Amino acid sequence: MLPLITLSHLTLTLSIFLSSTDAHVFIYGGCSQDKYPPNSPYEPSKISLLSSLASSSSRTLYDATAVANDTASPPDSAAYGLYQCRGDLSPHECASCIAGAINQIAVLCPDTYGASLQLDGCYLRYERADFLGRLDTGLRYRKCGVGGNVDGEFWRRRDDVLADLGGAAGFRVSATGAVEGYAQCLGDMAAGDCSECLAEAVAKVKMLCGAAAAADVFLAQCYVRYWESGYFTSSSSSESSNGDDVGKTVAIIVGVVVGVALLIVFLSFCRKACG
Ligand SMILES: *[C@@H]1O[C@H](CO)[C@@H](O)[C@H](O)[C@H]1NC(C)=O
Repeated sequence: MLPLITLSHLTLTLSIFLSSTDAHVFIYGGCSQDKYPPNSPYEPSKISLLSSLASSSSRTLYDATAVANDTASPPDSAAYGLYQCRGDLSPHECASCIAGAINQIAVLCPDTYGASLQLDGCYLRYERADFLGRLDTGLRYRKCGVGGNVDGEFWRRRDDVLADLGGAAGFRVSATGAVEGYAQCLGDMAAGDCSECLAEAVAKVKMLCGAAAAADVFLAQCYVRYWESGYFTSSSSSESSNGDDVGKTVAIIVGVVVGVALLIVFLSFCRKACG
């Protein structure tokens, strides 16, 4: 019984660890209803749009572009798209995240004119209509964590973090005491649009998630995420700096589990052989 409990605990620890650090983890995705027909001129435009975004992602964390949107191009061939990587990723990590997003979006939305995909580390969207640079504060995804330490102190710190994140321009990480979070707007948003989007996201967090110990609210052009320290694991709080500690912890847990398993195998073997 004991090794089973330990093993399932290990699996849980690993999956939580990955979901808080792996940029490729799926958050949400959506496909347009309409699909393009076979041999549509949209398909080559889409392919060229995505390959242009993919190559851009090794240089910059945000880019938006259009393909075949001039009057000389055949009708139904224009494609518009953008991506945004999380502000703490390196260009190399960004490129890897976007490459993963392009693969996932092809599986998720084959032959659709529009699609969007949010992974932990990056966002990708394309459409046949020009959506670039238009303010959109529509809700795309939300998730409220369960439970939490809902005393007055937690509320105060949570609201401090949300207030700080609401003032972000671009990407911001915030932490006060036991609450941590980050927020991000799309890279080309005007400061006023970014604040408007974040204010809406913060209002949605409070309205939809109440006193949750963790919450994620993704609007079309910005998002806000916060969690109570230790909500994911005791070490998920600073995603970049303590990878070594997490690695050591995992190695120790693996070592202990393997050790206990070997001991049990040995003891049961011994009971038969020695007894
Ligand atoms: C094509 O799209 C880009 C990006 O939205 C825009 O800047 C440009 O003006 C468009 N070109 C035409 C001819 O509409």
